[in-house]
Amino acid sequence: ARIPVITIDGPTASGKGTIAHRVAQALGWAVLDSGALYRLTALAVQQQGVDEDDENAVAQAAQRLDVAFQGEQVLLSGIDVAGLIRQESVGNLASKIAAYAPLRQALLERQRAFRLAPGLVADGRDMGTVVFPDAPLKIFLVADVRARAERRCKQLKEKGFSANLTRLLEDMRERDERDRTRANAPLLAAADAKTVDSSALSIDETVNVVLDFWSSLG
Ligand code: C5P
Repeated sequence: ARIPVITIDGPTASGKGTIAHRVAQALGWAVLDSGALYRLTALAVQQQGVDEDDENAVAQAAQRLDVAFQGEQVLLSGIDVAGLIRQESVGNLASKIAAYAPLRQALLERQRAFRLAPGLVADGRDMGTVVFPDAPLKIFLVADVRARAERRCKQLKEKGFSANLTRLLEDMRERDERDRTRANAPLLAAADAKTVDSSALSIDETVNVVLDFWSSLG
C-alpha cells in the first residue's frame, strides 16, 4: 500500500496549519505546509528583484529555492524566515503568483517528496485535488470569514506584527476569491473530501473530528 496522506485544504486562516500540525503530532507523521512554499517563492521573488509578472521567471525562482523545515523554523538559504513569510505582503504576493501554472508545476514534485513513511499530513488549497489525489482521507476545512479574520488578527499580533481587522477581512475576501476562481488548481473541495466547519469548534474538537474520520477508515 502507498504511504498514507491526510490532506487538509481550505481558505486562508481556516486553521489548516494548526490542525495539520496537531493531527500529525497525534499520529507521529510528518507535515507539509504547502502554503509556505508559495510564500517562500514570493519572498525570494521580492528579495531577488524577480519580475513578479513574469510567470517563467517566478517558476525558476521556485526551482532554485533552498528550503528546509526544522521544527518551527523555515530556512531559506539557511536563514530562518518563518516570521517574515507570515507577513501580509508576502501572503498577498504568494496568492498572486499561485495562479501561475509554471510555478505550480515547479512545486509539484517538491511537495510529493514529503510523502515519507509512516505518513504525511499536507495542508494547502489543492492537496486533495492535485498533489495527492489518491490520499485516503481528504478534509476540506472551512470557517466563516469573520472568524478567520479574527484568528489571523490575533495570530499576527501575537507574533508582534501590526494588524487591522477591517483590512484583513478585505484582503482575505480578495485572496479567497482569487484562490477560488483561478484556472489552475482552484481552491475546491475534492469530490471525496469531508467538509468540516470549524467556526464554532475549538482546536481540540476539530483535531478530534479529523482523527475520528481517520480511525473510522480502519
Ligand atoms: O496557506 P497560506 O495562506 O500560507 O498560502 C499562501 C497562498 O499560497 C494562498 O493564498 C494560496 O494562493 C497559495 N497556495 C496555493 N496552493 C497551496 C497552498 C497555498 O495556491 N497548496
